[in-house]
Amino acid sequence: MTAPVSLAWLDDAAEKRRVAGLHRTLLPRTSGSRLVDLASNDYLGLVRHPEVVAGAAAALRRWGAGSTGSRLVTGTTAEHELLERELAEFVGAEAGLVFASGYAANLGAVTALGGPGTLIVSDAGSHASLVDACRLSRSRVQVAPHADVEFVETALATRAEPRALVLTDSVFSADGDLAPLQALHRVCRAHDALLLVDEAHGVGVRGVGGRGLVHEVGLAGEPDVVVTATLSKSLAAQGGIVLGDSRIREHLIDTARTFIFDTGLAPAAVGAARSALRILREQPERATAVLQRAADLARITGVDAPESAVVSVILGDPTIAVGAAAACRERGLHVGCFRPPSVPAGTSRLRLTARADLETADLDLIASVLGDVLAEARV
Ligand SMILES: Cc1ncc(COP(=O)(O)O)c(C=O)c1O
Repeated sequence: MTAPVSLAWLDDAAEKRRVAGLHRTLLPRTSGSRLVDLASNDYLGLVRHPEVVAGAAAALRRWGAGSTGSRLVTGTTAEHELLERELAEFVGAEAGLVFASGYAANLGAVTALGGPGTLIVSDAGSHASLVDACRLSRSRVQVAPHADVEFVETALATRAEPRALVLTDSVFSADGDLAPLQALHRVCRAHDALLLVDEAHGVGVRGVGGRGLVHEVGLAGEPDVVVTATLSKSLAAQGGIVLGDSRIREHLIDTARTFIFDTGLAPAAVGAARSALRILREQPERATAVLQRAADLARITGVDAPESAVVSVILGDPTIAVGAAAACRERGLHVGCFRPPSVPAGTSRLRLTARADLETADLDLIASVLGDVLAEARV
């Protein structure tokens, strides 16, 4: 049957993606898979931890499968507020507000703190959710070259808008490098701007006991620093949070559209995140272990020592990267593969994520498989 004309353009677009090596396939996991996981964000190896699963199950039994409504109506349980307080205390912030995802937390925070009359300056490497937040914000947006503090300072100093908001990831998701947070904060403070830091890849990995990069560089609790984070990586659950001054929390409750018009996070995810946080507090060595395993992965693949759990092995061409990822999979290794638009053209790569619970046998397999696969891909 020929496709209706209204859909025909989708075939053309799909063909173009296929030719460019940018076609994507969903690969459902099997629960008993023996693949060694170097692709997920389960940095601390907690997603199947019995206490995390028990925390989710207890919340599920107590509150039911869904949160039943938006946070402002019926979607807030006592457990949501406990998680907010516990996470705020952990990272050294005054208050926290849980959202249904990290994506929603970024959209909500940036649109509520931005808007007409606010200049937003966002790092070119900021996560897609911050990019989309800028687009939704109706602010004037300037994209700063990656980690270019001078550019940010000039933009802030020469703005006409009364308010300004600077956006950056703490740990950039594609390259795993760190933002110059202290220098950014200095220029924000000097020019009356708020600094919003996405700690999705920082919490659980950087800072004392995994308290994040903001904490590590001494900015925890600064009133002009707003932290966003996901609960879906180190905290082994799902959901997002905005952490900062309590006036920011109040403002978001009243005005953040992804908070007001979205169903509250499911109780099971809240229970899981609380249990994961408890484990991280009791076992801070998990945060150290993840960086050690990342260093092992960098040594094995011959790339620079990483500053986070993310180890990027750039191969260039998307078809080569996809082929290398498939070859790894055939030999028992699940690795991430990033292509445009996730990364700039010409920098398609294998993206490996370290986990605190990688064992010696895993590292032996990883060394053997990646040794062969990269030798072929890099010629
Ligand atoms: C830097 C960063 N920010 C935000 C998000 C979005 O978080 P979530 O998956 O909880 O929506 C992600 C990825 O998932 C991320 O890597």
